[in-house]
Amino acid sequence: MKLLKNLVLASAFSGLIMGSGLVLAGDPADPSRPDPAQIARGAKAWADQCGRCHNMRAPAELNDEDWYVSVTHMRVRGNIPGDMIRDIQAFLMASNKKE
Ligand code: HEC
Repeated sequence: MKLLKNLVLASAFSGLIMGSGLVLAGDPADPSRPDPAQIARGAKAWADQCGRCHNMRAPAELNDEDWYVSVTHMRVRGNIPGDMIRDIQAFLMASNKKE
């Protein structure tokens, strides 16, 4: 799973994730992991929305709490719909953990 996740992140950074339909696999045995479909939507929304105004910070740069705060702030800055913001938060929080 680590390799797949790294591949997905690598392609997000190179812009290849746009429209590619790549899906992050979740871990059904771990209830702290959110819905994989939501994470996949979040990855795409992140790639589409969060680079519009500035360079994207890597998911691993911030912890859950800091991502929650800054993405909530960016919702207002970027006028991004709430459902998309929740998807982006799910993606970032699923992508910032040490393996
Ligand atoms: C409409 C333009 C715009 C969009 C879209 C946008 N940002 Fe920002 N962002 C800014 C501006 C301007 C700042 C400068 C600080 C401020 O506004 O408080 C900033 C600051 C930040 C910061 C804090 C500074 C830093 O680099 O640590 C983070 C983190 C961040 N944005 C992440 C995101 C994420 C994640 C998204 C997508 C959900 C996003 N931004 C979408 C304009 C935008």
